[in-house]
Amino acid sequence: MTCLAQRAVEILSTPMAADKSRLTRKLADDWQEGRISEVGQADPPDRPARSETPVLMAPSAMPNRSKAGVKGRIALLHALAHIELNAIDLALDIIARFTACNLPSAFYDDWVQVALDEAEHFDLLEDLLGRLGASYGDLPAHDGLWQAATKTSGDLMKRLALVPMTLEARGLDTTPASMQSLQRHGHGEAVPALRKILEDEIAHVAAGTRWFAYLCSLQGLDPASAYRERLAPYFPKGPKPPFNHEARLRAGQTPYFYDWATSFI
Ligand SMILES: [Fe+2]
Ligand SMILES: [Fe+2]
Repeated sequence: MTCLAQRAVEILSTPMAADKSRLTRKLADDWQEGRISEVGQADPPDRPARSETPVLMAPSAMPNRSKAGVKGRIALLHALAHIELNAIDLALDIIARFTACNLPSAFYDDWVQVALDEAEHFDLLEDLLGRLGASYGDLPAHDGLWQAATKTSGDLMKRLALVPMTLEARGLDTTPASMQSLQRHGHGEAVPALRKILEDEIAHVAAGTRWFAYLCSLQGLDPASAYRERLAPYFPKGPKPPFNHEARLRAGQTPYFYDWATSFI
C-alpha cells in the first residue's frame, strides 16, 4: 500500500487543478478512514506540477486588477482561487517534506485536514467563477507563494513561521474586507463561501501556531520570540497591519507574535 508521503507527492506532481483537488479529497478520505496507515517517506518536487494556464508572473509584473463590475469580481475570485490551489500544494508539501522530523501522527491528521479544506475552498471559488462564465486559468496569476515554500524547504520551524503563521494569517486580516467589497458591489452571493473560508483558515493558522509551539517546547523556546526571530529575515518589520485581532487570537496568536510596531514592555 502506498504511504501518505508518496500519495502527497503524486498529487504535487499532478498538473491539472481539478485533478489535484479531486485526488486531495480522496487522499483525505483514505487517511481519515484508516486506509493509509503509514506516513512513510518520499521525495517532494522543488515545485508542484502546474497546467499551462494560468500564466505565472512575478508579483511586480502583474497587471493592475480591475475592481469594478463583473470583471472586478472575477479578478478577485480568480486571485483567491490561485491562493487556494497553492495552499493545497503547500499542505501536501509539508506532509511529504519533513517526515525525518518524527512528528506525531496528529501532525499529519492536521495537515491532511488542511489540504482537504483547501481543496474545498478551491472548488467553491471555481464554482463561483463558473457562475460568472469564467474559470481558473483565464487570468494571469503571480508566482510569489511558492517562493515562500522554497525559502523554507530545509527547516520546518521556518516553514510554519512563514507560511501558516504569517501568509495564511494574512488571509484572516484581509478576508473581511473582501467580503465587504463583494457585498458593497452587489455580489453578496459570494460572501457565504468567503465566510466559510475565513472560519477554516482560523483552524489552519491555529494548526501552524500549535505545531510551532510544540517544536519550541522540545527546545525550551518561547514561541512568540522564536517566531519573531524566524520571520525577521523575510519580514524585517513583521506582518503587515491592519490585523484581525479577534481571528488571530482564536488561532492562538497574541499581539506579541505579529504586532511588532507596538511595545509590549
Ligand atoms: Fe484556504
Ligand atoms: Fe489555509
